[in-house]
Amino acid sequence: MDKFKIKGPSKISGEVSISGSKNSALPILAATILFDKHVTIKNLPRVKDIDTMFNLLKSLGSKIEFKNKKRIAIISKGNKNKFFAAYSLVKTMRAGILVLGPLLAKLKKAKVSSPGGCSIGVRPIDIHLKALSKLGAKFKIVKGYVYASTKKGLMGSKIKLSKISVGATENTILAACLAKGVTRISNCAIEPEIKDLTNFLKSAGANIKWVGKRTLKIEGVKILKSTNYSIMNDRIEAGTFCVAACLNEGNLKIKNFDPKTINTEINLLKRIGAKIQTSNHEIEIKGPKKIKSIDFIKTGEYPSFPTDMQAQFMVLLSKANGKSIIQENIFENRFMHVPELRRLGAKIHIKGNKATIEGSNNLEGAELMSSDLRASVALVLAAFIAKGTSIINRVYHLDRGYEHIENKLKKIGVKIKRIS
Ligand code: UD1
Repeated sequence: MDKFKIKGPSKISGEVSISGSKNSALPILAATILFDKHVTIKNLPRVKDIDTMFNLLKSLGSKIEFKNKKRIAIISKGNKNKFFAAYSLVKTMRAGILVLGPLLAKLKKAKVSSPGGCSIGVRPIDIHLKALSKLGAKFKIVKGYVYASTKKGLMGSKIKLSKISVGATENTILAACLAKGVTRISNCAIEPEIKDLTNFLKSAGANIKWVGKRTLKIEGVKILKSTNYSIMNDRIEAGTFCVAACLNEGNLKIKNFDPKTINTEINLLKRIGAKIQTSNHEIEIKGPKKIKSIDFIKTGEYPSFPTDMQAQFMVLLSKANGKSIIQENIFENRFMHVPELRRLGAKIHIKGNKATIEGSNNLEGAELMSSDLRASVALVLAAFIAKGTSIINRVYHLDRGYEHIENKLKKIGVKIKRIS
């Protein structure tokens, strides 16, 4: 298992370019199941989760041709349509459940491994199943597999999602695209990745309209036509580099993404004292001499502060000049980076879903263990500002979602080495 060796403290400067969004690419790749003709998808990030989705699509009968070192995928139907998504593929990546809606819409049946929980929480799929039932699907869960079918095909319906869920919104949109008649989905997630998915589907002729802040109207079409689409860039990767720039009086130009997608994060970074200039596709960010604490941050659904940025902000606030509180409202077990940050000397106390961070600590290098994708990147940030050497184990978590992270960090001045 690969490890990272990081020598700190480093002050970072220079330029970094943001890759395509993993969380946008995954549902768009799942959507290719809905097509009869080939689809070209560009700007794919070269990360493990995307390879897992390719393998899942291939196992379902898709043919995939790559160009430009896998950044462009041309996906077409093979001769056989399969409807079985195996545990071995879905267990490592929960987004595998996103093939359920498209398989039901296209083949009227599916057998998809239930993704199960993961280290950050239980992560049930009840909202996905309830929404798809409203469209006429029937479900049985046997030995960890969801058996789904719809005899007459999916029919449009009025659906109110009981809770805002990114994945359930995506699965329902994907299913409703080809369902007969009109579907209205309310209480939708409105993350930029969802808008990217609806834009992609529209580019293929889907009849989708946002008719309210969180409401979609979808009129089913018979077929989707061949399309050529470029995935949005990764706002979480961009936010992570913004935090990196603030940690040790860094100075970064972060290119190739839309700063409007991280407005909430930018406002918080201004509050801690960062100097920020934005233009259409880039940001220039200078970290402050003294990081100011923030009394209270809570995670929430977009456009609120993202849970996927919580761990990175915790590292930042552990360097602040006072006490800060972060409340995690999305996942029940997303403080696994805390014991690891404590090993570096951070003073963080947890009570329920609140973490109190006593700032102004000098961190010292240590051996650390990655637990999930965003927790792992937080450990990398903490390690490069800590004095001395840190070893980060299990970096496969990072490889799932950050493209060439060590190369990007090396270029801006972090002393990081992968040990295989
Ligand atoms: C997606 C993102 C993930 C991000 C999360 C929240 C992808 C591939 N992953 O995950 O990076 O952290 O959104 O922004 O895009 N829930 C239920 N029942 C369900 C579905 C969800 O109770 O059927 C709960 C979850 O356990 C969680 C909350 O709803 O507590 C939000 O989860 P959801 O928005 O669905 O997250 P994901 O789509 O899994």
